[in-house]
Amino acid sequence: MRITGLSALEILDSRGFPTLEVTLEAGGAQARASVPSGKSTGKNEALELRDGDRGRFEGKGVLKAVAFVEGEIAARLVGHDLPPQEDLDRMLILLDGTPGKTRLGANAILGVSMAAARLRAQAEGRPLYASLGGTAATLLPVPCFNVLNGGAHADNPLEFQEFMLAPAGRPTFAEALRAVAETYHALAGILKSRSLSVSVGDEGGFAPKITYPEDALDLMVQAIEAAGYKPGRDIFIALDPAASGFYQGRRYHFAGEAHDAVAMTERYGHWLDRYPILSIEDGLAEDDDEGWIHLTKVLGSRMQIVGDDNFVSDPRRVEDAIQRKIGNAVLLKPNQIGTITEITETAQAAQRGGYRCMVSHRSGETTDDFIADLSVALGVGQIKSGAPARGERLAKYNRLVRIERELGPRARFAGRGVFEGK
Ligand code: PGA
Ligand code: ZN
Repeated sequence: MRITGLSALEILDSRGFPTLEVTLEAGGAQARASVPSGKSTGKNEALELRDGDRGRFEGKGVLKAVAFVEGEIAARLVGHDLPPQEDLDRMLILLDGTPGKTRLGANAILGVSMAAARLRAQAEGRPLYASLGGTAATLLPVPCFNVLNGGAHADNPLEFQEFMLAPAGRPTFAEALRAVAETYHALAGILKSRSLSVSVGDEGGFAPKITYPEDALDLMVQAIEAAGYKPGRDIFIALDPAASGFYQGRRYHFAGEAHDAVAMTERYGHWLDRYPILSIEDGLAEDDDEGWIHLTKVLGSRMQIVGDDNFVSDPRRVEDAIQRKIGNAVLLKPNQIGTITEITETAQAAQRGGYRCMVSHRSGETTDDFIADLSVALGVGQIKSGAPARGERLAKYNRLVRIERELGPRARFAGRGVFEGK
C-alpha cells in the first residue's frame, strides 16, 4: 500500500494549548492521530518539541514539529509502501538520531507512529486493537477513574495529584463504567452538601478545597457507599500522589507536614489497613531510589506499586528497576517514549520481569482514543483515563464499551486479579 500523503496540523488540547495532529494517506484511505501532553512530567521523558516562540501560545506552539512531519519525515515515507510498524518506528528513531528524540520531537514521531498503526488496521479491515494485538487481544482493562484532582492538575490545597476509583469487582467493563459514573455523581452530592466546590481539575475529577489526603479517601469511601456499592468488593481505590511534585530536601511536604520515605511508607501502610487501596503510583519521588526500594520491600506484597516519573515508559529503565526491585508495576504513556513499537517493548519488558502495567492518558488530552485499543492490544488489564466526565476522557472509556460489545462472548473483564501480580 503506497503512502500518498503525510501532513500535520497544530490543534488544541483539553487545556487549550497546542498539540499535534497527524494525517497519513495511502491506498485511498486516510488515518488521523493526535498526541497528548503531560504537565507533571518525569525528567527523563522523550522530548515534546515546542517552538519556544513567546509571541505564540506562550512559547508552546508546535509548528516546528509540524514542519518536521511534513518535511523530513514525509520525504522518507511518501511514495513508498507503508512499512510494518517496527520498521517504520526504527526508521523514525534513526532519522531522529538522538536518545531522547530531541531533534524531531517525540510528539512528531509518535503522531506518525500512531497514524500508521491506524492506517494499517484500516487496510487490514480489522479494529486497531486486533491489528496491534492479534486474536488474543480480548482482555478489557479495569479502568481507574481520577475523581478527585490535586497537585499540578488543580489549584486546591491538596498536594496529592490523583484519587482514583477502580471498579475491579464489577463483572464487565460497561458495568464498571456505570458503577463509577454513579459514584462520581454521589460524590458531587456529598461535596455540595458540605458546601465544597464541584468544579473540576484537568482530568475531570472534582477539585474541592480539602487539605489532607485522608479527607479525600474518606470522601471516596462515602461516595461508593452512597451509590450503593461496597468499597473493597465492587470498587477499590488507586492513588497517584505524583510525589516528585512535593519532594524537597529529601522530605515529602504536604498538608503542612514533612516526612521522609520511611514515614511515607508507614503512612501508606496505615492506609492499606483502613482503605481498600490496591495501587499507588509515584508514591515517592522519581529520584528517591532508596525510598522506592524500601517502599517496595515493605508494601510490595500488599499492593501494586507503579512507576511513572521514574520509569518514563522506557524499556531499559524498566529492566533496571526489575533488577533493583524498584516498584512492581509500570505506567505506560506512549508519548513518554515516542513510538508504538517502544511502548510495546516496555510492556513486554515489564511482563517478562513479572511487573504489571497500566496504560495511561496524559493530563492534556484530545478526543483521540488510541490508548483504549492499545490497552486491549497489550492485554495488560489496566487503564487510567481520568474522570467519567469530559469528552477527551470519555472518548477512551466509551471506545472500550464499544470494544467490549464488539468482542461479544470473547470479551473478558480483567477484574481484581490483575492487580495482584504473580
Ligand atoms: P501528566 O500527569 O499527564 O500531567 O504528566 C499524569 C500522571 O502523573 O500520571
Ligand atoms: Zn503519574
